[in-house]
Amino acid sequence: MSNTENFVKELADKHGRKRESLMPILQEVIDARRYLSDETVVNIARELDMSAADVYGTASFYSFIETKEVGQYSIRLCKTIVCDMKGKEAILNAIEETLKIKIGQTTPDRKFSLSTTNCLGWCHKGPAMLINDEVFTELTPGKVIEILENYMNR
Ligand code: FES
Repeated sequence: MSNTENFVKELADKHGRKRESLMPILQEVIDARRYLSDETVVNIARELDMSAADVYGTASFYSFIETKEVGQYSIRLCKTIVCDMKGKEAILNAIEETLKIKIGQTTPDRKFSLSTTNCLGWCHKGPAMLINDEVFTELTPGKVIEILENYMNR
């Protein structure tokens, strides 16, 4: 049995094999592995007797569930209109230049990945971004570089 098979089996033993068990299982996969691989999807589907498309469909509905491998720190910059009008593009440029990656990419050392997200609910303090589950608001290019440098030194 592969590592993933074992891991998913343990999660199913713990949370059960009903449809309602899917979210807690997905949540734990993300906590432990940070993203949901194809192999994990297939194993969850098998354990819960669902189709892989069903598991994938549920997972992709929730934007916090990554279906691609991400870095240790997952940066999500809000791309919705208010943040956009408040200067999101300059923030994006500062992140891209500092980390030398584009949206959808992960740094070679696997420390950071960059993506955009819809409104985070912090529009009044935009531009806003998340790094994992920590929110940063009222960003300026200078501020975002400082934040990233802090994370680099962790
Ligand atoms: Fe960016 Fe709402 S538009 S947080």
